[in-house]
Amino acid sequence: MITAIFPAAGKGKRMGAPFNKVFAALSDKPILIHTLLSFSRCSAVDNFIVVAAPDEVEPVAKVLHSLPGIKPCKVVAGGTERQYSVYNGLRQVSPKTDIVLVHDAARPLISPNVINNVISEVVRSGAAVAAVPVTNTIKVIGDDNMVVNTPDRNTLWMMQTPQGFKKDLLVGAHEQARQDGYLGTDDASLVEHIGHPVRVVMGDYKNIKITSPDDLIYAEAILGKKAV
Ligand code: CTP
Ligand code: MG
Repeated sequence: MITAIFPAAGKGKRMGAPFNKVFAALSDKPILIHTLLSFSRCSAVDNFIVVAAPDEVEPVAKVLHSLPGIKPCKVVAGGTERQYSVYNGLRQVSPKTDIVLVHDAARPLISPNVINNVISEVVRSGAAVAAVPVTNTIKVIGDDNMVVNTPDRNTLWMMQTPQGFKKDLLVGAHEQARQDGYLGTDDASLVEHIGHPVRVVMGDYKNIKITSPDDLIYAEAILGKKAV
């Protein structure tokens, strides 16, 4: 069985709205609903766990349980860091689940194609991450904004989600990270931390994470184009 966990318990500080950005409207519905409906179109995924801020669990559960067209869904309380939110979600995964996909609630433009790419690679090798090659030159910057070096662009990819793992591997990686006090910015980094290989699969440049108000404008444009 395949379970998708959606961390949605952030504060959306960079969005600058007075509420969690996953509830911001994108075209006709909140970002979180877009994300869940997009994922529901992928037949390989069996069920969902949405991780909401503790005081948002109840209202979110109410809305989702009466929302037509989404997969069976639990809503659980998140933590103060994304990693802790995912951990809380993982603890609620059914014993029948063998593959877990973690997907940012703030990435509403995900396509079934990318989800399926990740799942296929998880089946083959245990850990796979959607990503795209960087298009800009990236430089490492040190003190006083001084350039330290310029890594070879051909080796640099931008990580996206979904990030997929055999369940036992991801649970083990999260447990080890807790024990070591290791805090990663994505789930793959925890799996790397325990020395397990992670493979990148082709994501989609449209699969952006809605972070700041400009991202909403871009996402609206993409959605508008889809409708044509
Ligand atoms: N997230 C979470 N729990 C946290 C922090 C983040 O579940 N403690 C979720 C967010 O809701 C989002 C995803 O992780 O769907 C990616 O995080 P990010 O884009 O950084 O969202 P926020 O943390 O909400 O935004 P910001 O960093 O600007 O405050
Ligand atoms: Mg954040």
